[in-house]
Amino acid sequence: MAEGILAGKVALVTGAAQGIGLATAQAFAEEGASVGLLDLNEGLAKEGADAIMAAGGSALGYRCDVGNEASVKTAIDAVADAFGPISVGMANAATLTQPVAIADMTLETWNQALSVNLTGVFLTAKYLIPQMITAGGGSIIITASQMARVATPGRGAYCATKGALLQLAKVIALEHSGQNIRANTLSPGGIATDRLAKQFGDLDAAEREWGPAHPIGRLGQPREIARAAVYLASDDARFMTGSDLLIDGGYAAQ
Ligand SMILES: NC(=O)c1ccc[n+]([C@@H]2O[C@H](COP(=O)([O-])OP(=O)(O)OC[C@H]3O[C@@H](n4cnc5c(N)ncnc54)[C@H](O)[C@@H]3O)[C@@H](O)[C@H]2O)c1
Repeated sequence: MAEGILAGKVALVTGAAQGIGLATAQAFAEEGASVGLLDLNEGLAKEGADAIMAAGGSALGYRCDVGNEASVKTAIDAVADAFGPISVGMANAATLTQPVAIADMTLETWNQALSVNLTGVFLTAKYLIPQMITAGGGSIIITASQMARVATPGRGAYCATKGALLQLAKVIALEHSGQNIRANTLSPGGIATDRLAKQFGDLDAAEREWGPAHPIGRLGQPREIARAAVYLASDDARFMTGSDLLIDGGYAAQ
């Protein structure tokens, strides 16, 4: 495991208990990184870390609420204490809110989406940056969405937070280019995860109802996003910063 393109690096993924985050933590570990898996769901985060360790990698599962500053700081410190300064960070956690039109949306729903999807990324980046300065550089990967570019009725809070993340990544890129820190967004289209299972009832229904909206003709798989995250984390992407990597089966091209 130690000979991959992320060998020797310390990485961290939020929202790593399942779906895209878990697949990315696994891919980072396969490429030789030590990985911190942070999630609200401590049990599943630890299970994910155990599976990586059983496969010969090194990992730590840790409870973290990305919307809570003290929790983010504690979790990032725990990963750095275990493995050393962090140079790869994927701010990936997002909350699931029910579809509702803006005129009917409660302030509570709006604030919930902002607190996790946007403030959570701000806090994750805020505490990752000093780690990366200590490490001599790094790559911040922010999971946005094709919904950062195209809109869907009923998804106002989600679309607004994801659009904002594209700008946040650009600012981080400009503020820290001199410290060898890159920041980019990674924007998936519909990916077959528990998130879509919950939205559509189950994954078969999600594939049936939403797969055909993607010109490739299907939903994506978490691994197809994880490999893009490996690219962004690696030195292969050394000339890429302040940008968005859209992997959406052609969804936003329509
Ligand atoms: N699945 C898709 O179709 C799709 C499409 C575009 C973008 N995305 C984005 O990709 C990312 C991952 O998506 P997914 O489908 O794997 O999601 P998911 O809902 O399956 O998993 C999200 C994870 O985040 C965790 N989480 C939620 N709130 C948290 C908090 N406050 N603190 C820490 N962890 C928290 C959950 O416990 C869960 O493990 C999200 O940012 C999502 O918006 C997903």
